[in-house]
Amino acid sequence: MMISMLVLSVAWVPLLLIPSSQKKDAKALVAELPAPYSGGDLAHGEQVFHACVSCHTTGETGQNLNGPNLYRLFGRRAGTGRNFPYSGAMRRAGFQWTATRLDAFLANPQGYMPGTAMTFRGVADPKDRLDLIAYLKAATS
Ligand code: HEC
Repeated sequence: MMISMLVLSVAWVPLLLIPSSQKKDAKALVAELPAPYSGGDLAHGEQVFHACVSCHTTGETGQNLNGPNLYRLFGRRAGTGRNFPYSGAMRRAGFQWTATRLDAFLANPQGYMPGTAMTFRGVADPKDRLDLIAYLKAATS
């Protein structure tokens, strides 16, 4: 009886360990970005992201709010998040999100993509955007 309980509990150990060992840490993810984004300040980027949280979630199980969930944003084609009613402008954009695309879009969403439904003035400061993009990489990967 004791032995079978021991075997059962030992059998669970790999199940608990595999997911966490496969998940890369935030710094390793940010290091995958091109410079200067790879040197972004994650803590400051999280502060900047406060401007986005009323409309966006970042996690795998996050909901669409006023804006789409941003999980797996990098490399994703613009306007293709799940179950979100994007504008025609976003659906027709035809590019994949990269650090440089995000930088241009987030500086001035309506200027970069006329017709976008993202009613947000943008993040004017380049350093704020750099740190925000590093944070987005870590939070959405
Ligand atoms: C008032 C709500 C609102 C705020 C605030 C907002 N967004 Fe958005 N965002 C949207 C909407 C709505 C869309 C979809 C736009 C469209 O379809 O044209 C969008 C789209 C996006 C996309 C494209 C996603 C995709 O799946 O292609 C990104 C990236 C994004 N937002 C990032 C941000 C970031 C980062 C911030 C903060 C700096 C922010 N947004 C602030 C509403 C918002």
